[in-house]
Amino acid sequence: MTTAHRLGWREMQNFRHDQPNTILQLTEQLGRLAHVSMLGIQLHLICEPDAIRELLIKHADQLHRDPFTRRIFDRFVSGGVFMAEDEAWRRQRKLVQPVFHAAHIEQYAQTFADYAQKMCNSWQPGQTRRLDQEMMALALRIICQTMFGADIDGVTDRIGQLMQTIMAEAEAQLRALMPAPKWLPTPGNSRQRRAVQEIQQLLMEIIQVRKAQKDHDGDDLLARLLLARDEKGNAMSDQQVLDECLTVFVAGHETTAVALTWAWVLLLQHPDKLAKLQQEVRDTLNGAPMHFGALAQMPYLNQVVKETLRLYPPAPGFGRTPTEPFSFNGTEFKPGDILMFSIYALHRQKDFYPHPEQFQPERFATDTAQPPRYAYAPFGAGPRTCVGNHFALLEIQMVLATMVQFLEISLAPNQQIEPVTLVTLRPKDGVRIHVHSRASHAGP
Ligand code: HEM
Repeated sequence: MTTAHRLGWREMQNFRHDQPNTILQLTEQLGRLAHVSMLGIQLHLICEPDAIRELLIKHADQLHRDPFTRRIFDRFVSGGVFMAEDEAWRRQRKLVQPVFHAAHIEQYAQTFADYAQKMCNSWQPGQTRRLDQEMMALALRIICQTMFGADIDGVTDRIGQLMQTIMAEAEAQLRALMPAPKWLPTPGNSRQRRAVQEIQQLLMEIIQVRKAQKDHDGDDLLARLLLARDEKGNAMSDQQVLDECLTVFVAGHETTAVALTWAWVLLLQHPDKLAKLQQEVRDTLNGAPMHFGALAQMPYLNQVVKETLRLYPPAPGFGRTPTEPFSFNGTEFKPGDILMFSIYALHRQKDFYPHPEQFQPERFATDTAQPPRYAYAPFGAGPRTCVGNHFALLEIQMVLATMVQFLEISLAPNQQIEPVTLVTLRPKDGVRIHVHSRASHAGP
């Protein structure tokens, strides 16, 4: 029987305002598998690689998503793989996973680079821009294009607005200690419900038009979702395809956008690291546009991205609740308990990362001793690990290399860049940058 540390009022306030750092402090005090109680709920705070492996792999079948995540995400992605459980999850995961297989994703590399280049071309020297917003808009354009191909020119902006409304309300619900239940017709709930209905209608029209064309064997993600078959040869229903499209929008655009934003913040705060990356990009590309084949010659780009995801994991933690009692390492885990896997705290353990608060991409160089297998988990671990990890890594690298090649930018002065966790870990008040110069290029 393990005794839990009861959180005091101040700790609870800290927990609410800065969950990642509060968990980091509590686990430093209580251990990497820490047991605390908050308002009568047992919380298990986890940032121990062995516990991550055991719980997320061996006990995966005895864990569901936690009720807090469910309360927020069920309002707009209840039907997709992210929220599914048990048999429904297994079936959906098997259908969706191959769509994001690394070999399929390579073909999108050019789209990632082309869209990044289009964005660079539209920036003018002398401008001040909101980097976080630009990255969000770019990631959204990219996910729309890779999902639907050319079908939806003109609809992208509307999808963007609707996604913004849905996510803004989700953030408001996360901020509130007791969010209004979803059936209550508060202005926020109504706004969100209308946006969900409209986006679902839009997506359903796109799906049905595509199916009517009969030749849905194109290269985009929608074509692949429509072609996916389970072991009995059954396809997904239209509703299921719609749910997965929406899930990919939600799971896949803000996470990637904040990773790109943090990568730039870190590089601009560390000019020597930026110079090293610029050199690598120059030497490899020789003025040619970024292309998939170049990645193999850009180890430093890879290290920069890995280190960014270590320091600022866009999904800094995720929760589970047991479906039945089980014990691990002398601890009883019971239904009603919450297991909080803190990736942020895991990535800041001195034992695995000397000077963990420092930005040192070189720690991921192949000739350097690597941290243990489960000490690095920006995409989670076990069977529910991120389905879009190859997609995300490729997108971040292609976009970052293109931007590094074409832009000279700096952080605008007098701004405090602090992380805050809402749906993702992102800069609290955004990031303003100055554009100094832009290489001209006859690109797309
Ligand atoms: C840097 C970008 C990203 C990060 C850091 C990230 C991180 C994560 C994490 C931590 C999980 C949860 C694992 C768990 O609960 O055990 C997850 C799940 C998921 N992610 Fe990502 N993700 C990213 C990008 C993407 C992209 C681009 C897509 C799709 C194109 C995507 C689709 C999903 C889906 C569908 C799930 C649910 C998987 C399941 O429950 O079986 N993610 N992601």
